[in-house]
Amino acid sequence: MCGIVGGIRRHSNIVDFLTDGLKRLEYRGYDSSGIAVHTPDKIARVRRVGRVQNMQDAATAKGLTGSLGIGHTRWATHGGVTEPNAHPHISGGLIAVVHNGIIENFESEKARLQNLGYEFESQTDTEVIAHSIKHEYMNNGGDLFLAVKQAAQNFHGAYAIAVIAHDNPNEMVVARMGCPLLVAFGDDETFIASDVSAVIAFTRKISYLEDGDIALLNADGIIKMIDKTGQAVNRAVKTSSISLASLELGGYNHFMQKEIYEQPKAISDTAEVFLDGGFDAINFGENAETIFKDIDSIKILACGTSYYSALTAKYWLESIAKIRTDVEIASEYRYRDVIANPKELIITISQSGETLDTMEALKFAQNQGHKYSLSICNVMESALPRASTLVLYTRAGAEIGVASTKAFTTQLVVLFGLAVTLGKLRGFVDEAMEQDFIAQLRHLPNDVQHALNLEPQIVAWASKFAAKPSALFLGRGIHYPIALEGALKLKEITYIHAEAYPAGELKHGPLALVDDNMPVVVIAPNDALLDKVKANMQEVSARGGELFVFTDLDTEFSADDKVHLIRTPRHIGVLSPIVHTVGVQLLSYHCALAKGTDVDKPRNLAKSVTVE
Ligand code: F6R
Repeated sequence: MCGIVGGIRRHSNIVDFLTDGLKRLEYRGYDSSGIAVHTPDKIARVRRVGRVQNMQDAATAKGLTGSLGIGHTRWATHGGVTEPNAHPHISGGLIAVVHNGIIENFESEKARLQNLGYEFESQTDTEVIAHSIKHEYMNNGGDLFLAVKQAAQNFHGAYAIAVIAHDNPNEMVVARMGCPLLVAFGDDETFIASDVSAVIAFTRKISYLEDGDIALLNADGIIKMIDKTGQAVNRAVKTSSISLASLELGGYNHFMQKEIYEQPKAISDTAEVFLDGGFDAINFGENAETIFKDIDSIKILACGTSYYSALTAKYWLESIAKIRTDVEIASEYRYRDVIANPKELIITISQSGETLDTMEALKFAQNQGHKYSLSICNVMESALPRASTLVLYTRAGAEIGVASTKAFTTQLVVLFGLAVTLGKLRGFVDEAMEQDFIAQLRHLPNDVQHALNLEPQIVAWASKFAAKPSALFLGRGIHYPIALEGALKLKEITYIHAEAYPAGELKHGPLALVDDNMPVVVIAPNDALLDKVKANMQEVSARGGELFVFTDLDTEFSADDKVHLIRTPRHIGVLSPIVHTVGVQLLSYHCALAKGTDVDKPRNLAKSVTVE
């Protein structure tokens, strides 16, 4: 969703950083962008609806230069996708602001400021921030830091803001409450951003702000900073290890394609923690063993693809660790009456670590008395791990494509590792079983590579799929969530309507949809439910449906013109859901190519969903 950048250089132009940073934030999803730069005459601003490139071209045409500036990519929430609603917002030619998040009391604040004589040009909540800071700036003798501090007391909601003033050419003030914000330090230059990917081409030295922090910056770094209690504070400076290559396409056509192909490595990097360190509680945090011994059940909260990894994990956690596991969509959980159990471990799963629904669900659980929480997350230092008792990071590397791929399969690796770890601690996994699980985990990157090698057959399927208006995905047991994930991927990037069902449910309703124009994808590996799945497939065939079956080497299926088979080269076993995910990912990707949709930036979607 929205992204923020800003920077101060001692002498040179900041515009190249602002536009480069905004381009690196494009993956998060946005519909307009803008920059504001301090010039001797005024705060000069360029905003455009559409791609950052349009905005950059306009800035170049205007000859925009200056050593202090802020920029923003906007994903519309309050007010439509228009240039007046795009950030930065300027009050009285004096104060310019960019903002991520939502000011919940913006209507009452707007009324208050209108009574004070301020006129509004946009429909956004952000404009109240600009006017409010301007008002305080005038009342506090042009002290920008104090003005932001005073104004922030009026804002209810979540925000990360960066503010500059026309009569202060060398300084910027930033503030954070509930939305990520970092300060990055170069030589004679200081940057700010909502996401580390915006600054990494310029410097790796980074400090993450905490909720309630307000900081005054110049080209030397942070001049002063206070925390939410108003006390002076310093935040640690860390060196980011994110590789620049992970943020660029390399030889691939799309980030989604690159990220699908990165899975063998991402999986082996993530599995390393268990393969080197064993299935040991310490992998999840200092006091994980004590916590794991005290819990009697697990509740997993997540959204979208991360929710499907939770659904998959339920099977492992209940069969390997024999621990009762509930899985809930985060946005549902937080709005119902829950029966809290302090011995229940709350797990949140999130690629970004900043999904608002998941974050709020965790806070809700904590407020209900849940004392143990574990975050499984791909982004270091993001909000969810910071708010959790325990954490284990997936090592997928940056995921840029909006459709989640390698984050999902690496989440599954961590969740499998958790199930075996708990199984050992609870006495359900003996030495022989553990060795078998280790062997399977070691084999996994190879199995995933073999699944990737099946791509040419999937391309052939995609050409049949792309013209269809809708599709059904079926699976049973632990492969049902993979059917759900397959349907979600197809919807997201091809806009083909797709639904997933447990295959046994077909006859209870969805079978009515099946005719010769309805492709039915089935995940049918050689497991205990294979015969049941075959019976469900007969139900489809009998109604003229066309079957596209992902299966294993040794299943007895016969292909014909209405039954298409793709087989993995061997029977996989307990990690089969991870391997079979690759097929449905590639199917969606190639359908999207055949349809010509925007694979990495599907319409209406954002990578990081930081609003409700
Ligand atoms: C689908 C997808 C989304 C995310 C969901 C949660 O491909 O990417 O469904 O999984 O928005 O995001 P995170 O995992 O960042 O919490």
